[in-house]
Amino acid sequence: MNTPARTCCIAPSILSADFARLGEEVRGVIAAGADWIHFDVMDSHYVPNLTFGPMVCQALKPHARTAGGQAVPIDVHLMVQPVDALAQAFAQAGADLISFHPDAAPHAHRSVQAIRAAGAKAGLAFNPATPLNVLDWLIDDIDLILIMSVNPGFGGQSFIDGALRKIEQARRRIDACGRDIRLEVDGGIKHDNIRRVADAGADTFVAGSAIFGQPDYAAVIGAMRRELGQ
Ligand code: DX5
Ligand code: ZN
Repeated sequence: MNTPARTCCIAPSILSADFARLGEEVRGVIAAGADWIHFDVMDSHYVPNLTFGPMVCQALKPHARTAGGQAVPIDVHLMVQPVDALAQAFAQAGADLISFHPDAAPHAHRSVQAIRAAGAKAGLAFNPATPLNVLDWLIDDIDLILIMSVNPGFGGQSFIDGALRKIEQARRRIDACGRDIRLEVDGGIKHDNIRRVADAGADTFVAGSAIFGQPDYAAVIGAMRRELGQ
């Protein structure tokens, strides 16, 4: 299958950034060509790790701009349970997109409505073993589908190949519904597998350790874009 001509987004995950220099890291990765900033929120309950909350998002918001002053979207990935109160807090803290795991939310439709009412775009995130069925009822209300290609909780894990089949299924659902929904893939993305992921139908690529683990962020993002033909 050839990669269709979609505009691709590279979304570096600051989970792998230097936490002692987060503002500088956000500016650095934007200067290197990041399209979105991916912000991994973990609560040590839904996932066995603990990261950062809305106050850190609010502090980073002014740093999420290009040198020319253009805002770069903050893409919040909530790996938390319960979802609603934190989703509201992140919308107020300046998050542009907020995704949550529907298996962590008893009333996922209400959570989606609340995120959109708060002015952010809403996404649904699917773990490697979570089926896409909830999309039967929610695809008309969301702006993003996030397919996990590792189990959530940690950066630096290996890509799970089974995710490719789920990306293909999600792409078919998006094309059938005809709405503008981003298809994001998260976990184990590197320059040497990004093309396969794009060929399966993804248009938005989270990468943490692959980017922040290298000294030259622009070189890594450039290599990814070349693989994507962009
Ligand atoms: C995992 C996070 C990912 C993670 C990706 O729970 O959702 O965003 O940071 O990291 P890499 O790119 O290192 O797999
Ligand atoms: Zn993530």
